[in-house]
Amino acid sequence: MISKEIIRKNLESGLPILIYDFDGREEETDMIFYAGAINWKSIYTLRTSAGGLICYATGSKEANILGLRFQTDILRDNTIYKKLVKIPSYKDEPAFSIWVNHVNTTTGISDYDRAKTIQELHKVIITINENPLEAKENFYTYFYAPGHVPFLISRDITKRRGHTELSTTLMSFLGLEKSVAFAEMLDEKVSLKKNKALLFAKNNGLLFIEGKEILNEVIA
Ligand code: 5RP
Ligand code: CA
Ligand code: ZN
Repeated sequence: MISKEIIRKNLESGLPILIYDFDGREEETDMIFYAGAINWKSIYTLRTSAGGLICYATGSKEANILGLRFQTDILRDNTIYKKLVKIPSYKDEPAFSIWVNHVNTTTGISDYDRAKTIQELHKVIITINENPLEAKENFYTYFYAPGHVPFLISRDITKRRGHTELSTTLMSFLGLEKSVAFAEMLDEKVSLKKNKALLFAKNNGLLFIEGKEILNEVIA
């Protein structure tokens, strides 16, 4: 895999990296930003150059501290909504939790607003390490739901190998917080094929990493 230092330097300088999951899974490439380096231009890039759903992801430890649950588990608690819980064709239970906005946003959808929500979520994740109770209090005071940023929760990468796990595990491996924003790269009608994503990376000077490379590094 490309050296840790180079990947970290790219992410910390605000550049996205591209991660392709696996042949036989989604076969998608997500454009991923480290949330500690995100600004409104990152959101503009995600929606104009990637085009998929712009999500925020963190780890399960962080989500537990904040009292966040998977949306599927929330739906299972309701006798009617539980009928909607089904496993997607690629066989993984979804990573989605709730959708949030920061209170200091207007509608929540603009580049500025989504960047603000993600920047403030990142601050909550940083606070978790210093003072978990304060982080939780800040989360419930300064965010509301439903909002415009879907919150994804990573599972153990040995059990689920989605972009959620690949990106957050990579952050830990690099010594960064599990705190990322990403979107799938789309083409006309379908998701962008791997060869086209590779070409996009080459033409734009971005790093392209495969899920199997991440697994090789993090799973002994
Ligand atoms: C949210 C998704 C995307 O596929 C995203 O890549 C995260 O999901 P996963 O961890 O399943 O790859 O479903 O837009
Ligand atoms: Ca998915
Ligand atoms: Zn994915």
